[in-house]
Amino acid sequence: SIPLTDDHGQLWFGSISVGTPAVTYTVDFDTGSSDLFLPGPNCSSTCSGHTIYNPLTSTTSKDLGGTFTLTYGDGSTVEGELYSDTVSIAGLSATGQTLGAASQYSTGFAKSQFPADGLLGMAFQSLSDYRASPVFQTLVSEGRTSEPVFAFKLATSGSELHIGGTDSKAYTGEFSYADVVLPAYWQVIMDSIQGNGHASLFSVNCIIDTGTTLVIGDTFSVDLLYSEVGGTDASDTVGEGFYTFPCNNVPKVSFTFSGKSFPISPSTFNLGPVAVGSPDCVGGIVASSIITFWIVGDVFLSNVYTIFDFGNIRVGFADLA
Ligand SMILES: *[C@@H]1O[C@H](CO)[C@@H](O)[C@H](O)[C@H]1NC(C)=O
Repeated sequence: SIPLTDDHGQLWFGSISVGTPAVTYTVDFDTGSSDLFLPGPNCSSTCSGHTIYNPLTSTTSKDLGGTFTLTYGDGSTVEGELYSDTVSIAGLSATGQTLGAASQYSTGFAKSQFPADGLLGMAFQSLSDYRASPVFQTLVSEGRTSEPVFAFKLATSGSELHIGGTDSKAYTGEFSYADVVLPAYWQVIMDSIQGNGHASLFSVNCIIDTGTTLVIGDTFSVDLLYSEVGGTDASDTVGEGFYTFPCNNVPKVSFTFSGKSFPISPSTFNLGPVAVGSPDCVGGIVASSIITFWIVGDVFLSNVYTIFDFGNIRVGFADLA
């Protein structure tokens, strides 16, 4: 297990080490992408404040002679050059791991907005822009893990990433598993979404994404959900796709996977008042007109213990201990 730091419920990050001699970096462990990047030596002002990965000072680095440009769901971009090197998580080392040394970060990755140095993708290789084995698959193919699984606890305290198994102290009961329908993202079908105890949305196509803060759904479904729980479209005031509700009546929303219902606690669902002292609060489920599947991010994932199972190509959820 490695401990994860909670950045105000926005993102969770932890440490990896890269190169020889090994240097420690912090990364956002993102199950919604498949590539690893760190700030490189050519990244000046836009990477300022982050720890730089310099391939020239690592005896195990290799210049792969290619460039990369990555774009993330929030519009953030990063570009740079491709290298391979030794990458270690929780003491397990992946050798010859492809990684990007960035020469440019967009403002979304600036230190003030993104406290981690870089980002480590944990989805399937088919999603890799580098067309390379992601770090966890390299660990598995090099025989470093006892089981081909990893698991997350994302909470306000005691958050952790467990590599090669699960932490039996972090959860209770059995896992409720959903099979991955298309191994690129961790994409599964959620049985249903309940608003105030009433199931209104069924067979919801979604990706399980630790790298996204909120839960994002299609406009039609999200509007239906909020109409049932007393929410109001606040696109004109809070921001496109956001909804509000009375702060003294937080909607009770739960997600059901493989027959088991997991509630989203009021404290994670409620993003807080629209403005200081306002009686209206902002909901953690937002609508997007451009997505084809729901993105189940930390607003939900911080309520459960989640296992990502490469061996059986499925995702499992259990109650937190
Ligand atoms: C930095 O830029 C120089 C000059 O363009 C290039 O030769 C070198 O490969 C770059 N280094 C990295 C790590 O991107």
